[in-house]
Amino acid sequence: MTKIVKENDLDEAAQCLKNGGTVVFPTETVYGLGADALNEKAVEKIYAAKGRPSDNPLIVHIADTDSLSKIVREISPDARKLMDAFWPGPLTMIFKKSSAVPGVVTANLDTVAVRCPSNKTAHSLIKKSGVFVAAPSANLSGSPSPTVFKHVCDDMMGRVDFIIDGGECDVGIESTVLDVSGDEFRILRPGYVTYSDILKITDKIKSDYVDIKGVDTPKCPGMKYTHYSPRAEVFVVMGNSENCKMYIDEILAKKQKRTGVLSYKNTKYENADYVIDAGFDMTHYAYVLYEALREFDEHNIDIIYAQFEDEDGVGVAVKNRIFKSAGYKIVKV
Ligand code: TXA
Ligand code: MG
Repeated sequence: MTKIVKENDLDEAAQCLKNGGTVVFPTETVYGLGADALNEKAVEKIYAAKGRPSDNPLIVHIADTDSLSKIVREISPDARKLMDAFWPGPLTMIFKKSSAVPGVVTANLDTVAVRCPSNKTAHSLIKKSGVFVAAPSANLSGSPSPTVFKHVCDDMMGRVDFIIDGGECDVGIESTVLDVSGDEFRILRPGYVTYSDILKITDKIKSDYVDIKGVDTPKCPGMKYTHYSPRAEVFVVMGNSENCKMYIDEILAKKQKRTGVLSYKNTKYENADYVIDAGFDMTHYAYVLYEALREFDEHNIDIIYAQFEDEDGVGVAVKNRIFKSAGYKIVKV
């Protein structure tokens, strides 16, 4: 049975983590499904709850950097600079792992992903539990990550010991994953902390993330799986508002199925069955995206057209997620 608790009532949930149980908790990016990272049996419960393949490694969440050296083997001066600049916050860094971290957390890789969340509830929970908290996003494998309490319950009720009601997540998409284990740093998954943010701190990063479809062995193992997909079929329509409107309106005029539009910059689609607007910039688009995809399903929409504009910065991360949601069905207009 799953117990729901409020953000100011974390003692039992923290104890549960310590005892090898599973707890869903809010972070500033998306909700996470946590268990004690150094307890193999506990970590196995995460994979079972999500229905996630175990060759997809997990991020270990910490409350502060005091005990980091227990789980990682070396921290370069530039990685330290990044920690000072972005932790706590939505940046995950990949380090060479120590022998304390079981292979079940890292899918037997020699590296471990670590993140120090800025969300106050996440911080208190980890601190109170006194354990390293392995946590993927708290969605059923393949679905969009949950960013609001209701969506967490839709996926995880009955599958975990505790769910903490932390309202809405601020960022809306998962953390930036940056590999700092080698001489050159590389973005493996783009996020709210952008290439140019990182470049301001270290020149060990040489290039921004590029979305390449169909790469056989991506370095970020999770990126090869179907991701972020609602039940409805998603198409991305990429271009300026005027061109997107022209293209989508033409489809809506002839539509036979229930069709939704994820609009941008408040573009109007009078003939759609359901419209959600993603706002006027990519930070807002990121905030809205996953909640919107699930909301279209709740309104029995069969096809979603997502209006999108190619932009730098957080736009790189939104593009990565929305392209995957659409299974790379993209039209440039
Ligand atoms: O914002 C986030 O990062 C959220 C919250 C809950 O913290 N977590 C999250 O976890 O998105 P998850 O499991 O859904 O995504 C983790 C990503 C996956 O793509 C995985 O392959 C990659 O990080 N990853 C984990 N460990 C890795 C490693 N050692 N080397 C390369 N990639 C790794
Ligand atoms: Mg995930």
